[in-house]
Amino acid sequence: MKKHVVASTAEIPPGARKLVTVAGRPIVIFNLDGNFFGLFNRCPHNGGSLADGIVTGLVRSTEPGTYTYCRRGEVVRCPWHGWEFDIRTGQSFCRPGDLKARQFNIEVADGRDIVEGPYVAETVSVRTEDNYIVVEV
Ligand code: FES
Repeated sequence: MKKHVVASTAEIPPGARKLVTVAGRPIVIFNLDGNFFGLFNRCPHNGGSLADGIVTGLVRSTEPGTYTYCRRGEVVRCPWHGWEFDIRTGQSFCRPGDLKARQFNIEVADGRDIVEGPYVAETVSVRTEDNYIVVEV
């Protein structure tokens, strides 16, 4: 697999997302409290854009009439038919046993490593004081 620099961490603040194209593949990068996760921007149900989906959380219940709202901001809802996916794992909440949004490995690399390492050809401009988001495809 090849590593691709797709953005600086400053471009995607916590709670935000960015759609990028890596090796011809559209990937949406999410920032959840400083941790970055990437999903293929194609819903496994019928191809909707997860980059355009509402980000929400989970409602859990231990018994009728009792519920809690948790994991706020960690679930994306496909805009086409409302299927929901765990941003951290790509797991579907509609058919959790057999459907997942395709996931990509995301790492954060120090800007100095990018300037000194093999990623320079992948970037247009590099600021060494920032961290960059790297997608491995
Ligand atoms: S295409 Fe995403 S829920 Fe149908």
